[in-house]
Amino acid sequence: MRNEINIYRFFNLFAIVAVISISSFLISCEQDEIYVAPLPPGGCDTVNVTYSVTIQNILSSKCVSCHGNSGGVDLNGYANVKTNVDNGKLQKTIAPGGSMAGLLSSCDSQQITAWINKGAPNN
Ligand code: HEC
Repeated sequence: MRNEINIYRFFNLFAIVAVISISSFLISCEQDEIYVAPLPPGGCDTVNVTYSVTIQNILSSKCVSCHGNSGGVDLNGYANVKTNVDNGKLQKTIAPGGSMAGLLSSCDSQQITAWINKGAPNN
């Protein structure tokens, strides 16, 4: 009788330990998943940046109204944008403190900067 009770106690203890280890295993799996697929910093995607999708959208919605084909700086179309990348003017004006920086969100300027750093490809 006494031995039987001890065996039940042992199995109870075993069950508790098993539940705790399985739960902590499951919790650690969840954390692994979160770690494997992190959000881009600040929710801003600076990896999948292309001229045709990202850059053109930013420039045509926020810059081309003043920098179209009206003389002066032209940011309409890849060739004109590339000219202003190569002469350093685009990078200078969108950098923090630059004359046009206030027109852009910080994600906009991070994406333009990332694209310029990749060599401003026509992609
Ligand atoms: C409200 C009108 C307006 C908007 C919108 C605007 N700009 Fe400008 N920008 C100007 C004016 C005016 C100048 C000075 C004259 C010139 O060089 O065309 C200028 C100058 C520039 C220059 C030349 C700076 C230099 O050193 O010669 C660049 C590059 C530029 N802007 C980029 C941009 C970008 C990028 C945007 C969009 C985020 C933008 N601008 C939006 C009015 C604007």
